[in-house]
Amino acid sequence: MSDTALGGVLIVDFGTQYCQLIARRIRELGVYSRITVPERAGLMLDAMQPQAIILSGGPRSVYEQDAPTLDASVLDRGVPVLGICYGLQWITQALGGRVVPGKAGGEYGRTEIEITTEHPLFDGVPTRNTVWMSHGDHVETIAGGFTSLARSGPCPIAAVADDARRFYGLQFHPEVTHSEHGTRVLENFVLKIAGCSADWQPGDIAERKIAEIRELVGADGEVVLGLSGGVDSSVAAVLIHRAIGSRLHCVFVDNGLLRHGEREGVEALFRDDYHMDVHVVDASERFLVKLAGVTDPETKRKRIGHEFVEVFRDCAKSYTKAHFLGQGTLYPDVIESVAAHGGATATIKSHHNVGGLPEDLEMQLVEPLRDLFKDEVRALGRELGLPSSLVDRQPFPGPGLAVRCLGEVTADKLAPLRAADAIVREEIEKRDLHRDLWQYFAVLLPVQSVGVMGDQRTYENACVVRIVSSDDAMTADWELLPTDVLRTISNRIINEVRGLNRVCLDISSKPPATIEWE
Ligand code: XMP
Repeated sequence: MSDTALGGVLIVDFGTQYCQLIARRIRELGVYSRITVPERAGLMLDAMQPQAIILSGGPRSVYEQDAPTLDASVLDRGVPVLGICYGLQWITQALGGRVVPGKAGGEYGRTEIEITTEHPLFDGVPTRNTVWMSHGDHVETIAGGFTSLARSGPCPIAAVADDARRFYGLQFHPEVTHSEHGTRVLENFVLKIAGCSADWQPGDIAERKIAEIRELVGADGEVVLGLSGGVDSSVAAVLIHRAIGSRLHCVFVDNGLLRHGEREGVEALFRDDYHMDVHVVDASERFLVKLAGVTDPETKRKRIGHEFVEVFRDCAKSYTKAHFLGQGTLYPDVIESVAAHGGATATIKSHHNVGGLPEDLEMQLVEPLRDLFKDEVRALGRELGLPSSLVDRQPFPGPGLAVRCLGEVTADKLAPLRAADAIVREEIEKRDLHRDLWQYFAVLLPVQSVGVMGDQRTYENACVVRIVSSDDAMTADWELLPTDVLRTISNRIINEVRGLNRVCLDISSKPPATIEWE
């Protein structure tokens, strides 16, 4: 899929951990943005014709021998450039200024800066404001043509501008929320100084994506796509289907580790409502055989991933006329980034989100979402008319219920887990309590405890209810539901699910716990 002549902002990644954050902030302003490695900046400038360039931060020092660098001709294109942290230092050094190590070992965390020269970059920003700093080096001498705009206690040059050439630099990180007015500074640069128009909407790109798919696949090409029922593969499927109709073949692998109603839901939506060619492979037995006797969580995950590839490969091969493989790969999976510590060599990450895909299939990839972030895919899905139950659905891990069925996974254990999980979901969703939750599910413990039902002693399994809120799954908080809802969930599980006589509540946050139990 091409990104030709889209305009917007090209972000050059010098190795910062915040590159994706910069890209997201720009897109949140309604402007298309794309990340590239320094080595490909020239090519990307030609292809994308951006209206602005942002040079990111990075962990290295510009005066080191093998520090990441950029062909200085990038500065000759007449495109406005904003350097952030290392980006500022790189511009400074490239244009004849001087960068030195900080005497007191640098400046990290929240810092107050003072704007010393009024400038459009700081329109609407108070003279004194809090920013996020994270640098060892700083600019000692600004390059010719630049003016210093701001300072902090430890850092005499915290922002610079050369209005004639439209080059700008910030020592602080405007992309981080701790920089109170950071978004405003980015907005000033992107919209006011560079003149980008804020008209990029993820939903608007559906038609362009569909046209690109048609062009790539051609008039009679066929595509096979692994449909999981998750947001990414579903949105990819709908886009590809709009582009090529019945020449899309969806393969849904039922690994026996799905939640209650999941397979039926996918069949009803995609086959019945959208009239897509959906081939369901019932591989439950195969997966259970592979999982027999396995208790180690990592081994479970590996076996499931491996078996998925086997099943998918077998099925894909039967579509002898399909030379294309559709995937819901997202932008964070393919972003080109410099090696973790900013070495000169670029590492190109390209994860196949269907998990170690069969390269020997020798199929060409169709990845219509590969320049989108997750929330943008959801917006696109809404635009395409996919139901909220799918677009906004809670994440469900690839290994499915296996990572929630602790110890060995057997059909006998999956049945009560599935039933308990369905009750948790139903009770939360029918009260509309799920909108603020990231995930809510049941976990089956390989633990038996004594109970009493009627006059009978029971000795059965326990299950755990896990309810968390989160922004991005990197951290998560446990959430408490109203007591009556918890009571209903517990009563229903114990009364309706055979084999469970105890319900526990997980009140662990992440970190130190994880969201899933395995
Ligand atoms: P943890 O348990 O690490 O999970 O806190 C973080 C988020 O990732 C989901 N998850 C997975 N998603 N394949 C996926 O597609 C996986 O193997 C997988 N493992 C965990 C988990 O549900 C949570 O949202």
